[in-house]
Amino acid sequence: MALLEVKNIHKSFGAGEVLKGIDLTVEKGDVVSILGASGSGKTTLLRCINFLEKADEGQLLFNGKDYHLLGISKADISAIRRNTGFVFQNYCLFANKTVLQNVTLGLTSARHVPAAEAREKAMDVLTKVGMQDHVDKYPSQLSGGQQQRVAIARALATDPSIIYFDEPTSALDPQLTAEVLEVMRKLADEGMTMIVVTHEIGFAREVSSKVVFMADGVIVEEGKPEEFFVNPKEEKTREFLRLTE
Ligand SMILES: Nc1ncnc2c1ncn2[C@@H]1O[C@H](COP(=O)(O)OP(=O)(O)OP(=O)(O)O)[C@@H](O)[C@H]1O
Ligand SMILES: [Mg+2]
Repeated sequence: MALLEVKNIHKSFGAGEVLKGIDLTVEKGDVVSILGASGSGKTTLLRCINFLEKADEGQLLFNGKDYHLLGISKADISAIRRNTGFVFQNYCLFANKTVLQNVTLGLTSARHVPAAEAREKAMDVLTKVGMQDHVDKYPSQLSGGQQQRVAIARALATDPSIIYFDEPTSALDPQLTAEVLEVMRKLADEGMTMIVVTHEIGFAREVSSKVVFMADGVIVEEGKPEEFFVNPKEEKTREFLRLTE
């Protein structure tokens, strides 16, 4: 059974329909890359799946349970969120908290994990992302790549069954992008389930188990990277890939 299944998501802002019936299946251990031009609805899709945005219609199957996106209860939303992580383009760290505090906060406050245990877990995940030597610094004292690695550590700290990434490297220069992609590649190798909205074609090609291409609120084409990149079926996909070359 799939870890996550999304069926028929619709979302409009005013008169404009941004998601026009999206279906997506994610198996445990999958790394799903979502590609698509600016404005195609990628961020809106991730936000709807994680209830940062309210969908107008659609169903979500998560960990064997079935939910309606419209009218889902607050209790169900928090139950799902306890098992998901979200990494944003602009890191979204607390500026007035240290690296360590940024990671422990979600454990001590939301989940009532004892401080010592939270600290141990935080050190563990910060080591995993190579930030163990910076735990007492504040976000402003870090590079963008370091901040993003802290954000990834924060997502990992709660042992989620899936992490959503929304263009995690698009604010970074190539050197820092490489650092962050390296961490994500390691997570993928360890079997972490991830959905990654990205413009990094190399990452999508080498790391993902499935590539999804969106345009104008629909999924135009999806497939394994070796098929998707080598032998795209749709003219829209070919055109998109030509533009990214
Ligand atoms: N809160 C909002 N209110 C009104 N329109 C919105 C809102 N959020 C997104 N949109 C519109 O929905 C469409 C899809 O936006 P979305 O951010 O999902 O695209 P995207 O694929 O993530 O683009 P990008 O690659 O630039 O991040 C765009 O036309 C955008 O202007
Ligand atoms: Mg976006």
